[in-house]
Amino acid sequence: MAPKDQPSTPRHVAIIMDGNGRWAKLRGRPRLVGHHAGARRVEEIVEACTPLGVKYLTIFAFSTENWKRTQTEVAGLMRLFKRFISAKAQELHLKNVRVRFIGDRVRLEPRLQDLMDNLELLTAENTGVNLTIALNYGSRDEVARATKRLAQDVATGKLRPADIDDETLPRYLDTCYLPDPDLVIRTSGEARISNFLLWQSAYAEYEFIDTLWPDFTEEEFRKVLSRFGQRDRRFGAVKA
Ligand code: FPP
Repeated sequence: MAPKDQPSTPRHVAIIMDGNGRWAKLRGRPRLVGHHAGARRVEEIVEACTPLGVKYLTIFAFSTENWKRTQTEVAGLMRLFKRFISAKAQELHLKNVRVRFIGDRVRLEPRLQDLMDNLELLTAENTGVNLTIALNYGSRDEVARATKRLAQDVATGKLRPADIDDETLPRYLDTCYLPDPDLVIRTSGEARISNFLLWQSAYAEYEFIDTLWPDFTEEEFRKVLSRFGQRDRRFGAVKA
């Protein structure tokens, strides 16, 4: 049982939404059908956050490695992101969700970048769930980009090497506005991190669950959160 002073609900949950392709294959359908079903689950899980007490939700939508997929799948995913953002912007706004994106936008097509910028702007004052969508995101790429900016600050004298400590780099990461994840969930039975929030998840709890992402319901989300409440998090310390 978790100690009394420990929050029973994770403040920040990060999710690797895996298994869309297998979900579609099981039904004899193209992979993109699985991604569309996955998008519908995103809506359900975002909506579940407020009643469940989750303040920050970060979802892995497209990794820096996902460009290696077929051109058909990549193009289909990009169309899905554009459609999702255009179709859901008002709804997310009305639900008081604040949406932000992490990852390198430069490689994304300008129309998608515009939609992302507009959604961030539209929801900037919202005070409900903080939804972060990782799009063309890879942790190593993020650290490399952050290090470049940090090095520039050293070169221009804004930052002294002697002042660099473990709180310096996080200020340069895409996630600088986010608390570290308390819980990282990966669906579909794979037990790996795949270059997601490597620095930020140093003390996260992990849940690898067998369900494929398009089958991940609010009910299962609730169960995963309640298991989190049973965990004893020590952050490297020994409790009396
Ligand atoms: C991994 O499953 C999933 C992705 C690479 C894409 C995630 C995208 C969505 C859930 C779609 C909607 C997202 C938003 C934000 C609208 P996979 O394709 O690797 O599945 P597999 O391992 O079974 O092949």
